Amino acid sequence: MVLKRLAAAAALSTLLATVALVPQSRADDTDPEALVNALNAVFGAHAGKRAAHPHGFCVKGSFTPTDEAGKLSKAPHLSAKGPRPVIGRFSMGGGNPEAPNGQKDNVRALAIHIDLGGGNQTDMVMISAPVFAAKTPAKFLELLQTVATKDQDKIGAFFAANPESTRQKAWLTARPVPASYATTPYFGVHTFTLINAAGERQIIKWKLVPKAGEASLTDDEAKAKDPDFYKPELTERLAKGPVEFGVTAILGQEGDALDDPTAFWPDDRKSVSIGTLTISALEADATCDTNMFDPTNVSDGIEGPANDGIFQIRSPAYAVSFSRRNQ
Ligand code: HEM
Repeated sequence: MVLKRLAAAAALSTLLATVALVPQSRADDTDPEALVNALNAVFGAHAGKRAAHPHGFCVKGSFTPTDEAGKLSKAPHLSAKGPRPVIGRFSMGGGNPEAPNGQKDNVRALAIHIDLGGGNQTDMVMISAPVFAAKTPAKFLELLQTVATKDQDKIGAFFAANPESTRQKAWLTARPVPASYATTPYFGVHTFTLINAAGERQIIKWKLVPKAGEASLTDDEAKAKDPDFYKPELTERLAKGPVEFGVTAILGQEGDALDDPTAFWPDDRKSVSIGTLTISALEADATCDTNMFDPTNVSDGIEGPANDGIFQIRSPAYAVSFSRRNQ
């Protein structure tokens, strides 16, 4: 479904309607507000800031699909030729507004609105790891509440009992720190289904591949950097020319996990090039802050996972954070 672009004044009522619609289909009955409170308990509540990913900045650019994209999906931005305007936001994971850019065991993130025209947009909300840290909303709540105790025995016991929650950190710490927001891949994490004009369906996972390559820093270089070095780095890079990402769809096969955001798909899955995301300039942060990036805001021709509780609770949890940061 394509949601109307949220006018600032109408945003809250639209978001509350979203909250009211989603719970029936959720895989468990975790309260979205409890998740936001638990994020605040771990990272602190910071007035006017996002409960998660508060350290970031806004950019703008465009998305241009390949011819191949239209064969897989009838979504307007995939099936019609030509570039569409994009507003995006790069950020650090967690809930610390000063999370250092050089932190190794943290995700980098990229969220985008693609303008579909007529006041409509579709969103992609991605992180620099292929998996999330919890399988279900109830497990994520338990994880946050356990971390908030700061009791190392309890935290250790949680990870021992839920080994799938160790995968994201293990993936990040096995890799070097990205030198730039422009030199890391970004993953959609959840499984989406692309549907074409003939009604054919293909399960996929989104992966954005940096055209500049995957440049990185050593641990010592990362520690020596200013905690906020990504913004000046990107500003300097954009002064020389746009930053591009190849938007790819990893093609899933029968038996691949559909509803578990902690599960990896096998490495040998083929990818199809869907388009190019071009970041051309920084944008005023207000452009990103007066709206929310909503992973469930997908167009006709793209479906989210049916039984992935994490996917389903994201939109109502983001709405809680959005309404609090706009109070
Ligand atoms: C139950 C699971 C999750 C919860 C409770 C949660 C919570 C949140 C909240 C409260 C925000 C701030 C929203 C706002 O104020 O606009 C946020 C932002 C974000 N989340 Fe999540 N999240 C979850 C899962 C995920 C997953 C699986 C991903 C990656 C695919 C992800 C990626 C992001 C990104 C990139 C942002 C920043 C968006 C922006 O720049 O505005 N989150 N999350």
